[in-house]
Amino acid sequence: MPYIVAIATMALMAISVSLVLAIVNNLLKVEGEARVKITNDGHELVLPLGQNLMAALKKAGYDLFAQCGGKGTCATCRVKALEGLPRDQITAAMLGPLSDKLRKEGWILSCQLSLKNDLKVELFKPLVMGWPQVAGAAEKAEEEAKVKVKLSPAATKLRAVLPGFDCDACGYPTCEEFSEALAAGKAKLDGCYPGGQPVRERLSKAAQEAGVG
Ligand code: FES
Repeated sequence: MPYIVAIATMALMAISVSLVLAIVNNLLKVEGEARVKITNDGHELVLPLGQNLMAALKKAGYDLFAQCGGKGTCATCRVKALEGLPRDQITAAMLGPLSDKLRKEGWILSCQLSLKNDLKVELFKPLVMGWPQVAGAAEKAEEEAKVKVKLSPAATKLRAVLPGFDCDACGYPTCEEFSEALAAGKAKLDGCYPGGQPVRERLSKAAQEAGVG
């Protein structure tokens, strides 16, 4: 009998300690915030829960192309969710017009995501028109882009302002090939139809800077 009482007492104590720990944990937890890690430059943002991800990124200085202005139709605000977004939390709106390939790779539309927890995301560099004023962030992004694409210097400048759809509307299978054709004077500066007027303007500016045309 004394053994039973001792065991029951120990079990009760263990349960009490667990309960106290759980309460302390909850009290220490910062309510209402999510941490969003940007893997491109290692920057971590602390944002209120419920905030729209694209709006939060823009506010932090990441100028996503976002051609449709957040309507979920252009896919130019896409980010790759690397951690913190389980498959069962991905809605149809978050996938929008993304191709199967991009969906499988983990891309989602940032304009359709409200923050529910911590996230780790990768931005699609060609669709980031501006980076925050963090020392070295823009340079790092540019260096990484060069390694990935391996374009001529002029084509690199031109590619940086293209949407990155690889849609073939310009007559070239990828934006990289279109950029090289532009740099070589073989393609027209108004050839990116999906990009519309904003891309045409950026392309002519980039072409002037690159000494093309
Ligand atoms: S801004 Fe166009 S889909 Fe998000």
